Amino acid sequence: MKMKKGKIRNFLKSMKIQLVLLCILIGALSGLIVRVGILKSYEKRAVSVKNIEILSQAKILANQIADADYLHDMSSEAITAQLEQLSQFYDGRVMIIDAAFRIIKDTYDLDTNKIIISEEVIKSFDGKGKEISNYDAQNHYIEMTVPLVETEEETEQQRVSGILLVSVSTDEIETNLEYLRSRALILQTAELLLLFAVGVGISIRMTKPLKRMAKSLDELRNGYGETDGTLMITDYTETIEVSEKLNKLYARMKMLDDSRQEFVSNVSHELKTPLTSMKVLADSLNGQEDVPVELYREFMQDIGNEIERETKIINDLLSLVKMDKSASDLNITSVNINEMLEQILKRLRPIAGGQHIELVLESFRPVTAEIDEVKLTLAITNLIENGIKYNKQEGWVHISLNADHQYFYVKVEDCGIGIPKDSIEHIYERFYRVDKSHSREIGGTGLGLAITRNAILMHRGAIKVFSTEGEGTVFTVRIPLNYIA
Ligand SMILES: Nc1ncnc2c1ncn2[C@@H]1O[C@H](COP(=O)(O)OP(=O)(O)OP(=O)(O)O)[C@@H](O)[C@H]1O
Ligand SMILES: [Mg+2]
Repeated sequence: MKMKKGKIRNFLKSMKIQLVLLCILIGALSGLIVRVGILKSYEKRAVSVKNIEILSQAKILANQIADADYLHDMSSEAITAQLEQLSQFYDGRVMIIDAAFRIIKDTYDLDTNKIIISEEVIKSFDGKGKEISNYDAQNHYIEMTVPLVETEEETEQQRVSGILLVSVSTDEIETNLEYLRSRALILQTAELLLLFAVGVGISIRMTKPLKRMAKSLDELRNGYGETDGTLMITDYTETIEVSEKLNKLYARMKMLDDSRQEFVSNVSHELKTPLTSMKVLADSLNGQEDVPVELYREFMQDIGNEIERETKIINDLLSLVKMDKSASDLNITSVNINEMLEQILKRLRPIAGGQHIELVLESFRPVTAEIDEVKLTLAITNLIENGIKYNKQEGWVHISLNADHQYFYVKVEDCGIGIPKDSIEHIYERFYRVDKSHSREIGGTGLGLAITRNAILMHRGAIKVFSTEGEGTVFTVRIPLNYIA
């Protein structure tokens, strides 16, 4: 049992740890998803805003460049100033490339007059006036090409005569991202700590009722006396259900324990009574001198009767214990029930005759059934014996046998003293006798009906009693014709 207690504790402990881990895991995962999601969408949005802003500036400038024919005549100071302004304002580099891929203007003044052949530039010339924009997340810059479109005067056809190439740094977005990342990390750590605390709280709250239940069970285990035997943990529907089930189990255990104790005390009392009588008889013989032989004989006769009584009790107890064990002890054979009843009556007739009681057997049909003959003989004998014992002078006991396709029925009816209403429910209890003093005269231990009922139940049968005080009693027994294992 100690091990079981440990097991419950370990179970609760591991349940707590699992709950806390689950909370932390859920927190960490959700935090990660939110963090990555927010940072990514911030970056996307910031880049797109910057892109639109620069593109609109670059487009205006590209129009002005095209209008002023800046590609061929770079004397316009206004445009030069605007190019510088754009470059400085966005911390970037602005280049103008002509149709021969030559850099004719570079705000960094590094690559002027050099030839540039990059994918974007080629695409831009091919792109029929389309702008191209690229974001390089690794090196933190946006590069865009805006075509410089000229309209030929004679043909009125448009053609790309050059390209405005703007590349601006996105370091500012990266700085913001860094800041957000560090903030998110702090928040996430705080969230995890909070979730850990919440997890611990929840696990304690959730396991508390189970802990209490384990404690109550422990108290129950330590003996019935220490608690009133009721357990009620009302925190969850499940704990209420378990509590109710355990209470029922406990009540049944207590009932079994009580009946065992009562049985043991009854047995010892019943076994002691004949011994006490014998001791009194023997003592009184030993205490007297010159006891007449007749008195000796009389007392020895009484002692013999007591020994007989003691033997009967022990035999009855042994039959009961045997039947308590299991149905597998049944010795099932096919038995002619009519003959079996006749045999029983043959044995009981002398006893009935001694009390002037008429025994009548009425068989409605021949019956053969699969039964344990010894046990069922004992059961029916007890019923007929009772009919004789608890009868009136010149009374009768009628026994009838009938059957249908499934069962056979034995009815034992007498015109005896009957059983009081409030005693009926007790008559199958071991050692129960309606009128102890009267029964003692008649003789009996109160085990007969307990044995009878056990034997019938072992055959999957049923027994019923109807009785009216002062008028008589009817016992009906129903047994399956074929033994049901
Ligand atoms: N046919 C009956 N008529 C009236 N009372 C009965 C009848 N059968 C049983 N009883 C009552 O039920 C009690 C229990 O019967 P049961 O056969 O178990 O015990 P018993 O006859 O007293 O003793 P045992 O059968 O062990 O020798 C009897 O003592 C008696 O009071
Ligand atoms: Mg009896």
